[in-house]
Formats: sequence, C-alpha cells, structure tokens
Amino acid sequence: MKSKDTFGSKIALVAATVGSAVGLGNVWRFPAETQANGGAAFLLVYIACVFLLGVPVMVGEFALGRGIKEDAVGVYRRLAGKTPWWLAGTLPIIASYMILSFYIVVAGWTLEYFFFSVTGDLFQSSSETIAYSWGEACDVQFKEKMTEYIQSDFKPIIFTFIAIILNLLILVNGVKKGIGKISNILMPILFIILLLFCCVSLSLPKATEGLKFFMSPDFSKITPMVCVNALGQAFFSLSLGMGVLSTSASYFPKDTKLVTTAITVSSLDLLVALMMGVIIFPAVTSFGLLGNELEGATLVFVTLPQVFSQMHFSEFWSALFFLLLFVAALTSTISIAEVTIKFFEDRFKVSRIKSCILVILPLFILSSVCSLSQGTLSHIKIFGYSIFDALDACSSNIMLPVGAIIMSIFIGWYVDKKVLKDEMTNHGEINSIMYPIVAFILKWIAPVLITIVLLSPLLK
Ligand code: PHE
Repeated sequence: MKSKDTFGSKIALVAATVGSAVGLGNVWRFPAETQANGGAAFLLVYIACVFLLGVPVMVGEFALGRGIKEDAVGVYRRLAGKTPWWLAGTLPIIASYMILSFYIVVAGWTLEYFFFSVTGDLFQSSSETIAYSWGEACDVQFKEKMTEYIQSDFKPIIFTFIAIILNLLILVNGVKKGIGKISNILMPILFIILLLFCCVSLSLPKATEGLKFFMSPDFSKITPMVCVNALGQAFFSLSLGMGVLSTSASYFPKDTKLVTTAITVSSLDLLVALMMGVIIFPAVTSFGLLGNELEGATLVFVTLPQVFSQMHFSEFWSALFFLLLFVAALTSTISIAEVTIKFFEDRFKVSRIKSCILVILPLFILSSVCSLSQGTLSHIKIFGYSIFDALDACSSNIMLPVGAIIMSIFIGWYVDKKVLKDEMTNHGEINSIMYPIVAFILKWIAPVLITIVLLSPLLK
C-alpha cells in the first residue's frame, strides 16, 4: 500500500521510531541478558553488535521502506517480482507473531505491577518476613509478590488479557494519532524518571561493586553463546529484521538523513538500556543478590521494587514507573502487531477490523500458554527451555538475525545499488560518506558475521 503521509517534524519522526525501539527489550530483557551472560563482557559485544551490524542493517531497512513504501512482503515483491524472494518477507511476519505472544505477557505483568502499586499491595509485607534481616526481608517479600503476580495461574492472565484488549482497541482505531501523541509526551518523561532512579541506585551502599559487574569486562567470559545472545538482544532492542522499521520509514519525508536517524535511534535505545543497567546492577549488589540464580524477570520485578521501597512515596514512584513502562510496551506491541495486521490487509484484502481480530484472537490462547509456562506448565521444556523462553530465544536469537542476513544479501547482491545510494544521499541532495561503508557492510560483513555468530555454538 502506498503511503503519502509523512511525519510532521524531524523530532516527531525520531520520537516515533525510538518509541517502537524502546520498550521491554531495554528495561526487562537487557538487564536479564546481561546478568545471564557475564555482565560487562556481554555489554561490550552488545555495543559492537549495535554499531557494527545494527546501524547498517537499520539504514538498509530504512532505505527499502522509504524507497518502496510497502509492507514487509510488498518490499520484496516490488523489487524482485514473482521470484521466491517474497518468502523472505514472511519470516518477519512469523517472528513478529512469536515475539508478540510472549511480549504481551510481560506487558501484562507491568500493568499488574502498576495496579498493585496503586493499591499499595506490592509494598504490603506479610508478617512471616519479620524474622529476616532488613535486606533479606525485602528480598523475600518481593519474591513472594513475584510468585503471586507472575507465576500464579489466573492473575497474570487477566492482566495480559487487559493488555491485549487495549491493543485491539488502539489498533482498530488507527495507530498514528492517539498513541503516537501520547508516547511522544510520555517517552521523555520515562527518560527523566530513569535518570532519577539512576541517582537513587548509585547512592546505594554497594553501588560500585554493581557498576563493576556491569562495566568492567572479563574477556574470558566472551563465548560463542554470549555473542549469539548479544546479537539477538541488539536486533530485538532495535526492532530490526521485522519490517517494523521499513514500515516506519515509508512515512519519512524525502529530506530525512537516514544514517543520522539510524545512529540517533540506536544511540538513544542503547542509552536507555545503559541507564537500566546503572539502575539494576548497583541495586542487585546492594541487596546481596548478585551471583544468585536469578531468573530474567526477577531483576525488574523484584530488584526494582526494592529500589522503590528505599524512596519516600514508594507507591507513587513504583506506579509511575510501571505505568510508563506499560506505555513503552504498548507502543512496541502495537508496532509489532501492525506488521501482521498490515500483511493481512494488503495481501488478502481483509478489512482493517477483520484483520485486527484475526491477529489478536489467537493471541489470547498463545499468551495464556506463555503465561502458564512460568508456573503450572513450567515442566514442559523445548530443548531445555520453557515455552516462554523457547519462543523468545527462537524468534529473537535466530529468526531476527536470519531475517537480517537475508535482507543484507538482498540489498547487497540482488537489488540495484542505486536504491541504497539514492536513499542514503537523498537522490544526490547530500553527500553520504557512509554509503560505501554501509554498502560494504551489507554486502559482506553483515551476512558473513551474522552467519558465523549464529553457527558458532554448533562448532564447539
Ligand atoms: N524493540 C522493542 C523493545 O525493545 C521490541 C520490538 C521488537 C518492537 C521488534 C518491535 C519489533 O522492546
């Protein structure tokens, strides 16, 4: 579908793209991955992935989106006609749906934490915890709350369903106006709040120890699996390989500088992730939790409430944080769902409402299964992973990078060089010294390096 609309101003354009990129990936997934993959060593590989592979692939997606102005499959169809290349466009559609089915569950958790912060239940300690020392009591209390809010059967599913229905309502009514405007206001507020929490966390007693874990790398910890996870996290966090960015870029005006925009979006996304690290790890060490076997969710849903409980008006800060996080998640879930909705609309000529319902309905079942796999169904394992983690690892760590390899090969080898050059130089209006570099990375470095990283765990 051709789109003539363009984003009003440059700031709105960057804000909207950052809105899709910044979400639970930065706040919930990044600290969990960093913790599980050895701290600073992971961070180092992650930063390399963002700038060496993420930015060029993002420029490539932007170029295809603004140049062709169609959905994920449409881009391949237009440039490669009836050849099987269009199949490459279906990969993002499947990956996005898999991501949506677990992402929406985490969005439900943030809504639940918001609700129980408002009611004060989150900070209500049970009497048994009194026998512990203060730090332990705090830990036990919030772990119990996490078990109740995340691992029980009904509560999390109810909040996940509310999140799904909210998505449906927004998607049916069109995305751009309402939620776009709200997120433009709330995103900067989230940023300021994170900055405030950084200060609180850095003032905790063992802050330096936590910072050391996060920032001073032990190179021996860089293993093939750490590289795969860092790559997956970079692609997940930057919303790459899913057609989300190419769809956004189809609304970019002609004079938008694609490289500058890609660097700005990636840097802001990285900044939010770094701020989360600075908040979480000093708190983890100060509460004596580093080295404990922490599951991913624990960092945000146990450690952060501990930080809030250190502050005056805990309920207020906690409610504000989880509300903003929910909004950040919502801007992401909507952009993920939009990939599949647009696909049905454009390819099968289904009406907007039907397409939304078609995409959203199966989500009730899939998300319930994901949610239950945190508790009742946790014994079901796929290659040693819970259903939730298997969906996450397969879509983020395998399908998104594979999608990016195919796209790089498509741009680097198949498509006329002119498409990338025209888009990067705004049809000769500006000089892009980055063009040869990005073209080279897309042609050689990205396909080769991503393939090596993906295959490296098998070579062990
Ligand atoms: N980048 C988003 C985040 O970090 C998640 C996302 C992935 C959104 C893919 C859109 C597409 O939370």
